[in-house]
Amino acid sequence: MQSNPTAQHVKRLLQADRLFGVDSVPVPSVLRMLAEHGATGAPVTAGGSVSVESKRTQLDVLDRDQVKGCEKCGLCKGRTNTVFGDGDANARLMFIGEGPGFDEDRQGVPFVGRAGQLLNKMIAAMGLKREDTYICNIVKCRPPNNRDPAADEVIACTPYLHEQIGIVEPEVIVALGAPASKMLLDTQTGIGRLRGQFHDYHYTNLSGEVTSISLMPTYHPAYLLRSPQEKKKTWDDLQMVMKLLGLELPTR
Ligand code: URA
Repeated sequence: MQSNPTAQHVKRLLQADRLFGVDSVPVPSVLRMLAEHGATGAPVTAGGSVSVESKRTQLDVLDRDQVKGCEKCGLCKGRTNTVFGDGDANARLMFIGEGPGFDEDRQGVPFVGRAGQLLNKMIAAMGLKREDTYICNIVKCRPPNNRDPAADEVIACTPYLHEQIGIVEPEVIVALGAPASKMLLDTQTGIGRLRGQFHDYHYTNLSGEVTSISLMPTYHPAYLLRSPQEKKKTWDDLQMVMKLLGLELPTR
């Protein structure tokens, strides 16, 4: 069962306070925070959107208090580090892979190995820098021998991903590879048929409203390293994303 979003926001605010050394908060001040900070419970900017500092803090608290010590599935036994996410908490574009590999497990950062280097090139081809985007995975611990995450591992870990998406609220998600695409779209359709068009990723935002984000499934960079002939299709997908984001397309 989903917990009450307002309770989650209050919890996040209190966790954020604890991060800055506040040990106790009287109940009326929690109510005042909600009144002052709007329905999301997070500081709002003049335009009504959640501030980047607040998003950063919420991500840090989620990582520190829940993900780093997580033992909800067997993957925790083999990990060196959890791999939470990397990049701009306010990103317009989010990339979601399946799970950390060897290098990511060692460094605690997603997509830093060979597949990550190709992802960086894909991002650069879009005219962006890696740090302009937000990058994460479905599961936060490395599956042994880089196998696909198992169903129970995905079920245990996806609440973290849903929280990350709800905090960052990107305009577009690019799902990298079949496991991420199928899981996010709740479908058994193969990546070859899913890619090449936008789908709606439905989620509940921090105000408790059901809403959607445009999601483009595409091939995983690790697959592209093995099957470079598919790079053209991935580039087509990424150009559709660029168009949606209003980014300048290459002229040739
Ligand atoms: N492959 C993924 O799916 N994620 C990573 O972080 C690295 C490789």
